[in-house]
Amino acid sequence: MTTPLAPVLLDVAGLSVSFATDRGRVTAVDDVSFSVRSGEILAIVGESGSGKTVTLMSILGLNDPRTTFVDGSVTFRGRPILGLPDRDLRRIRGKDIALISQDPMTALTPVHTIGWQIAEQIRAHEAISRAGAARRAVELLAEVGLANPAEAAGRYPHQLSGGMRQRAVIAMALSCNPALLVADEPTTALDVTVQAQVLDLLMKLRKDFGSAIILITHDMGVVAEVADRVNVMYAGRIIERGTTERLFADPWHPYTWGLIASIPPLDGPRPHRLAAIPGMPPTPETMPAGCGFAPRCRFALPRCAARPPVQRAPGRSALCVIGPEDRAPRRAEILGPLGDAA
Ligand SMILES: Nc1ncnc2c1ncn2[C@@H]1O[C@H](COP(=O)(O)OP(=O)(O)OP(=O)(O)O)[C@@H](O)[C@H]1O
Ligand SMILES: [Mg+2]
Repeated sequence: MTTPLAPVLLDVAGLSVSFATDRGRVTAVDDVSFSVRSGEILAIVGESGSGKTVTLMSILGLNDPRTTFVDGSVTFRGRPILGLPDRDLRRIRGKDIALISQDPMTALTPVHTIGWQIAEQIRAHEAISRAGAARRAVELLAEVGLANPAEAAGRYPHQLSGGMRQRAVIAMALSCNPALLVADEPTTALDVTVQAQVLDLLMKLRKDFGSAIILITHDMGVVAEVADRVNVMYAGRIIERGTTERLFADPWHPYTWGLIASIPPLDGPRPHRLAAIPGMPPTPETMPAGCGFAPRCRFALPRCAARPPVQRAPGRSALCVIGPEDRAPRRAEILGPLGDAA
């Protein structure tokens, strides 16, 4: 699964993002660091508003530079890319890094057939004839599992179902064989069966093309299924990180406990109501100075009002005052004894 020796493709260090708003400058992403190696699937998971999309957009240079302040460093294949001229970034985005954005319609225009749109995308980066690009577009639609791809290529986006449209967007993202695919909630709008198919497709991509994938989701069930490593994001910070295996077997942060507790069971009767984390995440305007989760955390202590310390072990870390000795009994209050948690 994981490939520890694969080279680092993308490295993000100390990324902070703030916005100029009517109410002054607000911070949406606070000192985020992570890296992605070739061929691995990294999940970034967190509730709505935790800063997942802002993180991605900042990495890819897609924020409005007039209102967005971005600090830190981002390198792709060792080359710094933060603040590169738009033209250079666009070349990287289309060719080396592909984005599947949160709303599939933003990637598609309603006025052209999807076959045409995919072919144009190919032609923008490759010296290839119009007919060759059109043929390749149909092949890609077949690769993402659209039944009758030649016919699908001739359809307009509104003539496709949500699942078909998402596949078309993935085909478009794949048209340049990207080393890194960034997928922002690619399955949220889909029903459960199609969701599973799209996840299978992402796994297949990694297998067939060796693409690394950053998968943004709010669904811990999805993370458990496909990711090699996980970053748990809350209120603009990565509050826990680790390999998927270890993070699920031995989660450290109370927020992660809440996320795991809210995974619906795969079999047996669905509970009447899913366990949810009480309360709401803060917005950039209401972000506490200390631990962002403290206002919702049943284990919060007075010292959580200050920036939390980093708990570390090889390959993983969490931002929390709860140390190894206090972890198990507190976690058991939410997840039951260790072992049940995995
Ligand atoms: N241009 C902007 N100006 C001001 N605030 C912004 C701007 N863009 C995003 N935000 C705020 O930053 C925070 C993080 O937003 P982001 O879109 O990254 O959340 P997310 O984790 O992707 O959530 P979701 O799961 O709903 O997609 C939110 O509170 C959002 O309102
Ligand atoms: Mg988002």
